Amino acid sequence: MTEVSAVRFADRLNNVETSAIRELFKLLGKPGIISFAGGFPDAALFDVNGISEASARALQEEPGAALQYGATEGYQPLREQLSAFMASKGATVAPEQLVVTTGSQQALDLLGKTLISPGDKVIVEGPTFLATIQCFRLYGAELITLPVDGEGADVDRLEQLIVEHRPKFVYLIPTFGNPSGAMMSLERRRRVLELAVQHNTLIVEDDPYGDLYFGDAPPPSLLALSAQVPGSRERLVHCGSLSKVLSPGLRVGWMIAPPDLLGKAVMCKQFSDAHTSTFAQATAAHYLKAGRMPGTLQQVRQVYAERAQAMGDALRQQLGDALSFVQPQGGLFVWARLTGAGGKETDGNAFARRAIDEGVAFVPGAPFFARDPDVATIRLSFATVGVDRIREGVGRLAKALG
Ligand SMILES: Cc1ncc(COP(=O)(O)O)c(C=O)c1O
Repeated sequence: MTEVSAVRFADRLNNVETSAIRELFKLLGKPGIISFAGGFPDAALFDVNGISEASARALQEEPGAALQYGATEGYQPLREQLSAFMASKGATVAPEQLVVTTGSQQALDLLGKTLISPGDKVIVEGPTFLATIQCFRLYGAELITLPVDGEGADVDRLEQLIVEHRPKFVYLIPTFGNPSGAMMSLERRRRVLELAVQHNTLIVEDDPYGDLYFGDAPPPSLLALSAQVPGSRERLVHCGSLSKVLSPGLRVGWMIAPPDLLGKAVMCKQFSDAHTSTFAQATAAHYLKAGRMPGTLQQVRQVYAERAQAMGDALRQQLGDALSFVQPQGGLFVWARLTGAGGKETDGNAFARRAIDEGVAFVPGAPFFARDPDVATIRLSFATVGVDRIREGVGRLAKALG
């Protein structure tokens, strides 16, 4: 008997497939494995006391608001706190210019919904955040890739690509990108904003990692810098998130965009989840109001800085010239390339499988490219592994590389 399914999927699903990385994650259950594969912050760093106090306050002081339906744009006291948070980072944003989203992931989805028609071109970095690739493709975007080096996206190439493709928008992660870890230089940031104005092109800045710097603060965000480049703010979208600095489970992100785009995004959010959890928003608002964020940031920066240093040192010592990478100055990732020196492996996927046999996991870099994947690349996260285990894990990597 043939089974006839009543489920007929939308054509848009033909544009995406489950990621290759998911398949690899299935192998991570092996006991004793050291995982550099995830993209999560370390749960041991969550400020449980601070969040607990903030949520108790939210329930005691405004139970009606914290447990009731709320405005799609976001809970006003949180919008005010986020506006102050952005001001502390040099960006002037009125609470009304900012919409709270369910993680910055939802901001990306709303951008896809409001801006992308099937066949539209969008420029993204190569490599870029995997979920962005999937999300924009779901809406039918044709993705054009922009090369990235240690100083971030190649801006000369960006200009050529804008002229050639007239994209709907350009999506960038200028500060400690996932997976590139790269930090775009101040000069390049300025140039991006100038290009936005010259070519009347919308730029999306995704910035979940900008606060996670290890030494000196990075150059100002595109949003902060836009005050110095007339006409650029009107062509800029900025997505922020509390996920990597406080807790991804809160699902609190935000989007700042020109008023017409923000209005349409709010309309689409209305049909999507009505609003971000009011309880989570009220908790986040109380957390920020209590002034705990600077201390939390200091703590997470210090821990990740130590781990990044330990991983970089161990990789240099144990894998030598078989691996090339730029030591990250912030974020959660080391992005590296197998050079093939000494006749060693140059395929990130094959290396990932051999590494799992040795008891260490990471993700191959190829899936992070929307086009022309560089199969020699890999992404290693140092975020959730202590320094000793990092050294042990890198030792296992060296063994797997042979
Ligand atoms: C570059 C980038 N953007 C957005 C997100 C989504 O984060 P969230 O939805 O938790 O704010 C992530 C998470 O890994 C990311 O790496």
